[in-house]
Amino acid sequence: MKLGTPLQPQATKALLLGSGELGKEVAIALQRYGIEVIAVDRYANAPAHQVAHKAYVIDMTDADAVTALIKAEQPDFIIPELEAIATDALIAIEQQGSSKVVPNANAVRLTMNREGIRVLAAETLQLPTSAYAFAESYQELEHAVLNRIGLPCFIKPTMSSSGKGQSYVTDASQLKAAWDYAKAAGRVDTGKVIVEAKIDFDFEITLLTVRALNAQGEIETHYCAPIGHRQEKGDYRESWQPQAMSDLALQRAQDIAKKITEGLGGLGLFGVELFVNQDQVWFSEISPRPHDTGMVTMATQQQSEFELHCRAILGLPVDTSLKANGASAVILSTQPIEAPIYQGLAQALAVPNSEIRLFGKPNAQPSRRMGVALATAATTEQAKHNAIQAANHIVITSE
Ligand SMILES: Nc1ncnc2c1ncn2[C@@H]1O[C@H](COP(=O)(O)OP(=O)(O)OP(=O)(O)O)[C@@H](O)[C@H]1O
Ligand SMILES: [Mg+2]
Repeated sequence: MKLGTPLQPQATKALLLGSGELGKEVAIALQRYGIEVIAVDRYANAPAHQVAHKAYVIDMTDADAVTALIKAEQPDFIIPELEAIATDALIAIEQQGSSKVVPNANAVRLTMNREGIRVLAAETLQLPTSAYAFAESYQELEHAVLNRIGLPCFIKPTMSSSGKGQSYVTDASQLKAAWDYAKAAGRVDTGKVIVEAKIDFDFEITLLTVRALNAQGEIETHYCAPIGHRQEKGDYRESWQPQAMSDLALQRAQDIAKKITEGLGGLGLFGVELFVNQDQVWFSEISPRPHDTGMVTMATQQQSEFELHCRAILGLPVDTSLKANGASAVILSTQPIEAPIYQGLAQALAVPNSEIRLFGKPNAQPSRRMGVALATAATTEQAKHNAIQAANHIVITSE
């Protein structure tokens, strides 16, 4: 692989579609190799905008806007960082062959819709998942729940993330409200919802899985140590690595991750979300890109998930080994604030072996993730305790 010089005619260029905190770290990883980084988001001064060579604000669900920008910039790599993207435009651009979509346009298309990825996982690849059904009307939903899926269950829009539009239903009387909420709060109303039976898991993990080239130029699959996490209101609050699990469960998790990432194809890092109960493992969903729970790897791995993604995309060798036990804890705002002020950094960083990342988002909203605390320690339990403590020291105010 030959790399050019940024801002010169032969630059190797990467266009990030989505410039949040994960995109910011991908941008930094790319910058370290002298790649020209063009960061795109729907609002100005997004985290990755602030560390990129060039920043654009466009509606990324607008196929014409995405196509025009790619034509103007002619990037070597197009790296999606979120799901709300005009994937038809990416498919057309991939067919023209001048830019590489990471990991590939079809993977981006399949994973942006729960129906696409669920059908691939459960039906094509026969991976274990929760029982599920799709419904296009309230009557269909009620019929599916009462006759096939049972209660308790989760109702989700087919296109949504971060728990938006999602309901946990324990009683049939809650179904109508769950239907209405899924229809109203999805990113796009596809006309469909998915209902999933509740899996009784002991814990859930993200298995970061990397498809990268080896010295012979063949694609090899690598796994990071499993990351445990706790979800609340649709977003993760703490994650830790490694999550202890049985050898058989780990083997099964890796087997599922291998099959689903092979099914999607391409080079890059994927976040495979799995539910685990003793030796049993179920596939839940997958991101064809770094995962928010994987921010912990900035402290725990020699090569973070961002470095791994960048190396894999560039066809470079990867090393997924763990260097320390650690944890991450999110720093959330409790109120809407323009240009927030951060205090308590000194106290936070006095926590042993801790680090703080502030994302620099131009404004705060209730429950918006503004930063993350990382900590390493002898045990993941201690690391989690320390990361939470460090996160709690950060105070976000308006002045
Ligand atoms: N079938 C299920 N059984 C048990 N728990 C579930 C099920 N589906 C969802 N959950 C719980 O809800 C969380 C969020 O679900 P899911 O990952 O499908 O939503 P999401 O909106 O894509 O979230 P994100 O974008 O943050 O990954 C899961 O991590 C899990 O804790
Ligand atoms: Mg999820």
